[in-house]
Parts: sequence; C-alpha cells; structure tokens
Amino acid sequence: MPRAAFVTIGTYVPPRVVTNRDLTKVMDTTDEWIQQRTGIQERHWVDPGTGTADLAHEASKRALDQAGWKAADLDAIVFASLSPDHVFPGDGCFLNAKLGIPGVPALDVRNQCSGFLYGLSIVDAWIRTGSYRRVLLVGAEVHSTGLDVSTRGRDVSVIFGDGAAAALLEATDDPDRGVLAWALHADGRFATDLWADAPGSLYSPRLSHEMVESTAIFPKMEGQKVFKHAIVKMPEVVREVLGKAGVEAKDLKVLIPHQANLRIAEVVQKSLGLRDDQVFNNIQKYGNTTAASIPLALAEAVPARGIQRGDLVGMCAFGAGFTWGAAVARW
Ligand code: ACO
Repeated sequence: MPRAAFVTIGTYVPPRVVTNRDLTKVMDTTDEWIQQRTGIQERHWVDPGTGTADLAHEASKRALDQAGWKAADLDAIVFASLSPDHVFPGDGCFLNAKLGIPGVPALDVRNQCSGFLYGLSIVDAWIRTGSYRRVLLVGAEVHSTGLDVSTRGRDVSVIFGDGAAAALLEATDDPDRGVLAWALHADGRFATDLWADAPGSLYSPRLSHEMVESTAIFPKMEGQKVFKHAIVKMPEVVREVLGKAGVEAKDLKVLIPHQANLRIAEVVQKSLGLRDDQVFNNIQKYGNTTAASIPLALAEAVPARGIQRGDLVGMCAFGAGFTWGAAVARW
C-alpha cells in the first residue's frame, strides 16, 4: 500500500507587517503584555482586496515551482480554512479556478487550528487507497478582516495573523518516507468557548446590524480554558500517535506544535521531555495563522533544522471545536 509523502511546502504571507507597537496605536495594549503572554512580536495582515484564496494561490504556485510540478499534475485539492473568502462555495473551488485546473476535485475542511491535520488524514487515506497520487493540501487564513481591532477585542485580536502554506503530497512506495500515523479528536461541549457566533444560518436574517453592534460577528475566546485544555490534549495526542507509529519522542527530529501561543508550545515541549532543538516555533513572526500554522512552521523548520529525507517529523494541533490531533511522518 503506498504512503503519502511530503514533497515540498510553499508558503506565502501578505507583505504588510503589523508589529505589537503598531497595535498599541489602535488599542490599549503593550508590546510587553503581548510578548509575555503569547510570544508574538509581529504578524502579517492583508491589505483590503486580498482574500484567503489569493494567499493560498501564491503559496501553491511556490510549492509547484519548488517541486517542478505543473498545476495540471494535481489529482486533488484539500483546503483547510476557517476564514474562506465567501460563505459558499469553499475556497477549494476558488483555488481550483486560480490554478486553472477545471475538473480537479476540491475538498474544504473546516476544523480551525486542527484543519491541516484533519486534511492530512484525508490525503493519507486517498493516497493509501490508490484514489489519488498527487494532492495539494493547503492551510490558509485571513483573520485580520474579522477581528475586533479595538481595546474591546484585544485579548483575541493581538493573537491572529494572516498567511498560507501549501503542501504537496505524493504516493510513494519508499518504506522510509511518508505519513506513518495520525490521530484526531473533537469535543463539541466546548464549541462556544472559541467561536464566532454570526453570521449563521441559525439566524434569520443571517447577518444584522445588531450582530455587528453587539460584536457577535467577532471571534470570542475563553482564553484560559483554551490554554488549559491545549496543554493537556496536545501532549496526550502526540503520545497516542507515537504509539500508533511505534516510535518514541526521542526519535523525533522535530515536533511542530500548532502556533497558538508560545507559552502553550513550551508546556507541550516540557511535558513530552523534548529538547529545544526538537521543537520548532515561529509564532513570534506570524502570530496564530490557524490552519496555516503547522505547514508554515514545518516549511521553515526544514532548512532551519536541517530536516532530511527519512527524518521523523511530528505535528500536533489544538483549537476551536474543541478539536485536536497529531500526525507523524518520515520526511
Ligand atoms: N493587552 C493588554 N491587556 C490585555 C490584553 C491585551 N492584548 N488582552 C487582555 N488583557 C487584559 C485583560 O483585560 C485582563 O485585565 P484585568 O486583569 O484588568 O481584567 C488581563 O489582561 C488578564 O487577562 P486574561 O484573559 O486573564 O489573560 P491571560 O493570562 O489568560 O492571557 C491569553 C490571555 C494570552 C489569551 C491566554 O489566555 C491564552 O494564551 N490562552 C490560550 C488561548 C490561545 O492560545 N488561543 C489561540 C487561539 S486557539 C486556536 O488556535 C484556535
């Protein structure tokens, strides 16, 4: 049975850098508060008119160039995002059109910070069953257009950044490459602890002036609750996936934790007994880019940590839903 192997990852963040100091001009916050609580120094935010599918398109073109593939080589697209350009259709179809590959199937994944790993599990299953051989798996977000960038929304808005990363995966028969195992979970009892209430089909009309004025359109987060669950569930699911793959934490060349908050990643590292060189973080530069965060960090970790073909790479995520998961692959 073939395995799904990473070929390369292309990344793209919009050019506008927003520093913590920039945020102090529009809300009551400080560089010190943001860095101490989250580790974030700056993030990239789009200028008006740029959407999630645009970021994904740029990242995808880079990935295709890096691999020497043409868009026409792709058998399928899987697109993970909580911030698609429109209510429907999903950005998978918009990306399909931008890449000029009519007829190629496009699946949208809505699992927030765990979206890339939920997407990876689907790509793995398609490739293992022989359904497709070459798949584009994208994580992309434009958060900035949906944030309450005022003191009222400061606990959430300082955290999130825009960006995209596009992974190319292909079928391989090489026993020393590819996805070894993944594990996924969800607990919907916590669905409203990290969410955006509106617009939604539960309401008629789906969007109203009241929703805007009451801030129901902005993401809300029970920050401490998210923190407490994340630091338990991420190490737990990493242990689960290592067990499934029959490997140990000490064998990991690198673990890429979802870049939600540097403090969370540090607790996860400690809990798993990993050395500093075994964990890669880049939230300092990008903030939390949700579905894009794992591939954006993995792409940078490859040269930064000298990841070679066959090296063991772990990934784990926790986010809205709550959803969480982990995967382990040989690069
Ligand atoms: N600047 C300055 N002060 C702030 C800010 C800000 N940006 N935001 C909140 N505060 C204030 C609060 O108003 C509060 O003031 P008070 O004591 O006068 O009431 C004080 O800081 C402490 O607020 P808390 O919310 O208790 O701060 P906490 O220590 O919990 O840190 C944080 C908040 C960083 C959000 C933390 O809870 C956290 O990291 N949670 C994890 C959530 C997370 O990482 N989410 C990422 C998204 S999850 C996902 O990836 C989908």
